[in-house]
Amino acid sequence: MFRSDLLRGKRILITGGGTGLGRAMGERYLALGAELAICGRRKGVLDAAAEEMTKAHGGRVDTYGVDIRDAQAVDAIFAGGPLTGLVNNAAGNFISPTEMLSPRAFDAIANIVFHGTFYVTNAVGRRWIDQARVAGGWSSPQPMKSVISIIVTWVENGGPFTVPSAMSKAGVAVMTKSLAVEWAKYGIRLNAIGPGEIPTEGMSQRLNPGEAPGERSKETNPQHRVGEMGELQNLATFLMADGCDWLSGQTLFMDGAHSLANGGNFYPLRAWSDEQWRQARARIEAQNAKDRGQRGG
Ligand code: COA
Repeated sequence: MFRSDLLRGKRILITGGGTGLGRAMGERYLALGAELAICGRRKGVLDAAAEEMTKAHGGRVDTYGVDIRDAQAVDAIFAGGPLTGLVNNAAGNFISPTEMLSPRAFDAIANIVFHGTFYVTNAVGRRWIDQARVAGGWSSPQPMKSVISIIVTWVENGGPFTVPSAMSKAGVAVMTKSLAVEWAKYGIRLNAIGPGEIPTEGMSQRLNPGEAPGERSKETNPQHRVGEMGELQNLATFLMADGCDWLSGQTLFMDGAHSLANGGNFYPLRAWSDEQWRQARARIEAQNAKDRGQRGG
């Protein structure tokens, strides 16, 4: 779909770039000639991903064991050189009846998605603004810097049983619109992608625990399938490449029209019994413990 050197000369930061959607987007960017900086909480996972990716595609992938909840730590990411693009991909989410959430549970999600996304975006944007000022200002047709944030389709209709994530992602959608206006004069554009279900281990275990990945989407999605990683890679490449810079402040939902057909997600969970929720929670906690083990804490 794209010229093989489409992203040559670009250096792109992907938060949560060691696994799942972040890893897949990075892999495509690298294959199209970009350099990558990837950050996440599990340095070992990032290093293994970087090794595999460079083996497959060549190029350069710098890894930063940085938790985006820590605003000060985020600065370490800029050691490797100036960036041209950012993908806000790192996130956390799990299904739960909202009345069961403790303040710590709410914060576990909101600190990553709401606060962390802002910390990284502002740290990156500030540097781009300084660069534009040093260069005497930015003007078209110089290429723009591009920020892509991965959000969710339920910023439109609400996210029952995923309220901390829905609230935080709605904040990221508003940040996208706001900064598209505020930072345009510095040559920065921001867009968001709301993907439907594209199964990854982290997602399936926390949003559809106990189900085969994609099982529910096959029944309820108008296209009777889940999304493919290749589709997300293509859309994320289009938004990162030069050539359509006037596109800014937008959110693109890519879900096979699932949210239009169903009004949103997770509504069927209203029928779950206490026992179903107990089982779901046990599965989610097992996944959280597995991930904590890999982080060494
Ligand atoms: N229902 C209700 N509360 C839950 C819960 C569940 N299923 N799972 C965890 N919690 C609560 C815990 O009880 C704890 O609160 P408490 O201390 O008041 O009891 C709080 O959430 C934090 O739990 P903890 O086990 O310490 O989680 P964690 O911080 O190790 O992990 C995330 C939580 C969100 C950070 C973790 O899931 C994560 O790292 N996710 C990233 C990947 C991801 O979520 N991918 C899917 C995106 S769709």
